Amino acid sequence: MSGKTYDYLFKLLLIGDSGVGKTCVLFRFSEDQFNSTFISTIGIDFKIRTIELDGKKIKLQIWDTAGQERFRTITTAYYRGAMGIMLVYDITNSKSFDNIKNWIRNIEEHASSDVEKMILGNKCDMNDKRAIAKESGQTLAVEYGIKFMETSAKASINVEEAFYTIARDIKRKMDSRMDSNTTAKNTIVVAEQTKQKTGFIDRWCSIL
Ligand code: GTP
Ligand code: MG
Repeated sequence: MSGKTYDYLFKLLLIGDSGVGKTCVLFRFSEDQFNSTFISTIGIDFKIRTIELDGKKIKLQIWDTAGQERFRTITTAYYRGAMGIMLVYDITNSKSFDNIKNWIRNIEEHASSDVEKMILGNKCDMNDKRAIAKESGQTLAVEYGIKFMETSAKASINVEEAFYTIARDIKRKMDSRMDSNTTAKNTIVVAEQTKQKTGFIDRWCSIL
């Protein structure tokens, strides 16, 4: 029996302004807990959670970046290896929403071109302090062709759904790529066999 405890390993990244709740969203997903004291992330950190999709074990390695500008060089270095990126803003903070465009630009510059993306409008439990309408988030996401969800790490809303959705999208992309790879390999094998056969017939005919 192999010691491998998973079928797939997906590397995900959380980005967005400082204070939007990236660490809390991840903490909710990995430990199902919430902390209301703000401890700003220094540099980069990660958590692991294994989920199951279509009977396959998917190990999610989720990198949590610091939103603070002074860590930008370190955090940007992690874009390249990411298969999925969550762009997080805070629905009570319009600056964090406006900045999503800049975060997308960072992705375009530093991440792989086929990386899966998702926009999360976090802190949706704070409706009384809302600065960004849900429709604005949706419109922005449609503009970029990215999926969107409002989440709350505190009230545990849509956190599971968000990670499962991005994982499903990555898996779908990977499976279809594997299918086309297999098809390509099979085509080569058949072509090779045909070549060998015709070579044999050619030699046979020349003997005759
Ligand atoms: P950096 O590490 O500096 O980039 O910030 P961050 O995006 O990781 O923010 P963090 O998760 O540390 O949360 C910032 C503050 O927002 C903390 O005080 C959290 O308790 C609070 N917070 C996070 N998520 C939620 C949420 O869903 N609802 C509410 N009401 N507060 C939240
Ligand atoms: Mg953090």
